[in-house]
Amino acid sequence: MSASVTPTSLLKRLMPRPLKRVMKDAYRRRALDEALRHVSQLGPGQTPSTALLEDLQEGWDNHGMAARTDYLAEVCRQGVRAEKAVLECGSGLTTLLLGLLAGRRGVGVWSLEHLIEWRKRVASALARHDIREVHLLLAPLENYGSFTWYSPKVPLPGYFDLVVCDGPPSDTHGGRYGMLPVMRERIDERTMILLDDAERPSEHQVLRQWQADAAVTIAVRETPSGAFALVRGTL
Ligand SMILES: C[S@@+](CC[C@H](N)C(=O)[O-])C[C@H]1O[C@@H](n2cnc3c(N)ncnc32)[C@H](O)[C@@H]1O
Repeated sequence: MSASVTPTSLLKRLMPRPLKRVMKDAYRRRALDEALRHVSQLGPGQTPSTALLEDLQEGWDNHGMAARTDYLAEVCRQGVRAEKAVLECGSGLTTLLLGLLAGRRGVGVWSLEHLIEWRKRVASALARHDIREVHLLLAPLENYGSFTWYSPKVPLPGYFDLVVCDGPPSDTHGGRYGMLPVMRERIDERTMILLDDAERPSEHQVLRQWQADAAVTIAVRETPSGAFALVRGTL
């Protein structure tokens, strides 16, 4: 055996691909379990560190589609402050975090998801980690005329004090714009609206349309990997 070939590296090389995949998945699942356990042990008002958020992303393993660390940190900051109810548009790692940081305090989280298979993945993670108080709703995308947006088929709370907008996907007609007209009756000037991907032209357009429709104040936070917006105002 040459100096660079160790028993472990040899074993890895000889291991069939499907087995490698199974072992990688098991490793990631354990990393996610561990990271979520740490989040669930945070004290009131505490939020996960950047290192813990990076562990969560690694364990969640949805690179490219998952929320970035800076945005996750803001979701957590707002999640620990929410007092009434949280609306989430587009589910994923943020759903688990909101369930732990808001749901566990009795602040319900209503998450809209249009993809059946994706909803199954998020629902199974919520169940596996015993994260309750999250209503993960299958909400197909509906044509509202000038835009397309989620169509929740069940009654929603009358008021949300936090809205987290990370869906629907940007190639949807009107992108994330529909949140404001569809949810207008359920949000007001006290509601904090978070919009991810604020560096993209499609989200610039959404922000411009919201500003044209309502007296909102927009604060864009630039981050090394992109931007997100905090939106508030008279709706
Ligand atoms: C930007 S993602 C939402 C990410 C989520 N907030 C998170 O923290 O992970 C928006 C939507 O993309 C879809 N999506 C997420 N991951 C996906 C994947 N791996 N493949 C296909 N669609 C995906 C889901 O419908 C999701 O609601």
